[in-house]
Amino acid sequence: MKATAKAPANIAFIKYWGKKNEKLNLPLSSSISMNLSRVFTTTTVEFAPVYKKDVFEFTKEKATFKEKGRVFDQLDRIRKKTGITQYAKVISENNFPKGIGIASSAAGFAALTLAGTSAAGLSYSQKGLSILARLGSGSACRSIPDGFVEWKMGVSSETSYARSIFPPEYWDLRNIVVIVGGKEKKISSTEGHRLAPTSPFFKERISVLEAKVKKMKRLIKEKRFTEFGIAIEEEAINMHTIMMTSKPPIFYWLPKTLEIMRLVWQWREKGLKIYFTIDAGPTLHLICQGRDEKRVLAKLGKIRGIRKIVSNKPAKGAYLVTNHLF
Ligand code: PMV
Repeated sequence: MKATAKAPANIAFIKYWGKKNEKLNLPLSSSISMNLSRVFTTTTVEFAPVYKKDVFEFTKEKATFKEKGRVFDQLDRIRKKTGITQYAKVISENNFPKGIGIASSAAGFAALTLAGTSAAGLSYSQKGLSILARLGSGSACRSIPDGFVEWKMGVSSETSYARSIFPPEYWDLRNIVVIVGGKEKKISSTEGHRLAPTSPFFKERISVLEAKVKKMKRLIKEKRFTEFGIAIEEEAINMHTIMMTSKPPIFYWLPKTLEIMRLVWQWREKGLKIYFTIDAGPTLHLICQGRDEKRVLAKLGKIRGIRKIVSNKPAKGAYLVTNHLF
């Protein structure tokens, strides 16, 4: 009753910000994302009678009280599905920092859901896994299927899940993650989702999102990179406008975030096809085509004060591995 899964973080091109139902993590809009090849979480889950309570730790750091609570809630959901009563030990490893805008909860809950259900002896459909992962953390439902992914908001828990719209090799894109520092965010995305409707612009955002999702799917399908780039950049600024105008306001950007955004615009004026998107944190996700990756990396290499750069290709979703963490 032990299993290990690996799941990618994902970057949203059309973003999820605002919930219809907080308990079930039902979103107010659909969203589109891409899984990332080099930022992922590996998680081992073991159910066994030797454990007298649930245990959760990260390999490299201490898990907080809140993080433990969310993991234990997910174990409870898995136990409910199977009827098993045993407690579990869960060990998790992120190969990237959490809480700075690289979707650690998405990778984390996708890996936990796949490892947990397998350890419990459940063989779930991808749809079932996506729904269960969503209950742990909304965006985690998008780290289950492969490649380019759509999460249809649905009308109930059973109809709100993600599916692959194109496989990873469909489009040779890069997401160059640029870490500019920052401590773990003070306002979690859970709190941010709650505050979203307090922005005077939120209703307007929601009213156009389904059309934006439709357009984004078409742009990906037809590989229209320039229009795609403009759309993802617009969308990121739009979501951050909601954050900045919430009551109280949330500012996830650092001065360095803005500095790099401005550089991206300058580089583009000189002919380099590069765009950015940003999730709930100061980290930039620069998007370019595979053929421009080297030029972008060379330019980034000359900027002072960047903590880390990780170049990602589109990747498959969560999968089981045989190397356990304990
Ligand atoms: O799944 P959560 O609650 O961490 O929300 C994720 C929200 C964003 O990353 C900002 C946007 C998205 O769609 O991934």
